[in-house]
Amino acid sequence: MRQDEIWDAEAAQRYDTPGTGMFAPDVLDPVVDRLAELADGGRALEFAVGTGRVAVPLAQRGVPVVGIELSQPMIDQLRTKADDATIPVVVGDMATATAPGAGSFPLVYLVFNTISNLLTQDEQVSCFRNAARHLAPGGRFVIELWVPELRKLPADQQATVWHCEPGYIGLDTYDHLHQRVVSHHFRFGDGHAAELFRSPHRYIWPAELDLMAQLAGFEKESRHADWSGAEFTADSRSHVSVYRMPQDT
Ligand SMILES: C[S@@+](CC[C@H](N)C(=O)[O-])C[C@H]1O[C@@H](n2cnc3c(N)ncnc32)[C@H](O)[C@@H]1O
Repeated sequence: MRQDEIWDAEAAQRYDTPGTGMFAPDVLDPVVDRLAELADGGRALEFAVGTGRVAVPLAQRGVPVVGIELSQPMIDQLRTKADDATIPVVVGDMATATAPGAGSFPLVYLVFNTISNLLTQDEQVSCFRNAARHLAPGGRFVIELWVPELRKLPADQQATVWHCEPGYIGLDTYDHLHQRVVSHHFRFGDGHAAELFRSPHRYIWPAELDLMAQLAGFEKESRHADWSGAEFTADSRSHVSVYRMPQDT
């Protein structure tokens, strides 16, 4: 299934959950705080900007944000919150598309595990190279990505449940040969039926991510377990990694 088929009008309509889930202030505020700090008074480029979950509050914080996004329905949803003058968006693939001002951004960011939506290693490396192309010397590329739950999987098991709460179960199925994961999001009420949203990903171990960064000319500046700077450990389920381009010599 192609990404533009997954992020269709129905997915775009359901995406925003103001005040809850990924839109809850305790989730979103630390993201916006940290990105505003890293933008350091300059502009930011969001790869896969979606409906503007992060871009809209970041722009409201005074950071000019530009987006690249594949899905027109997701952009249409963004447009109900911010016009084209406030958050310009280039329709295209974050691995290849060019935003105006390429080469001058102090910050490019790609959050919510979305580098894994690129399904091959080549595309993921291209994405790093595209970020590098957009950055000014000394600029930073920030990635938020989950740690694949490989340690939870005995040899005869293909799936892990990563979240379970009333009305929602999230589980991932793993294909180790092709380094793929399919995320399954089940939502249900009291009845017997459930809604299912599925998305394919290529999972990346942190060390492979660092190597992709290196191939694109980045140095790793920091890795934390969350946006507030918690220590990244062997038990961390996710990470926020900051890569930096060298300053001009
Ligand atoms: C999980 S959403 C994240 C949206 C937003 N960054 C956020 O944090 O809410 C994933 C988004 O990535 C977009 N996307 C997937 N593959 C893409 C690609 N190759 N280039 C640009 N956008 C892509 C989808 O259309 C979707 O809007």
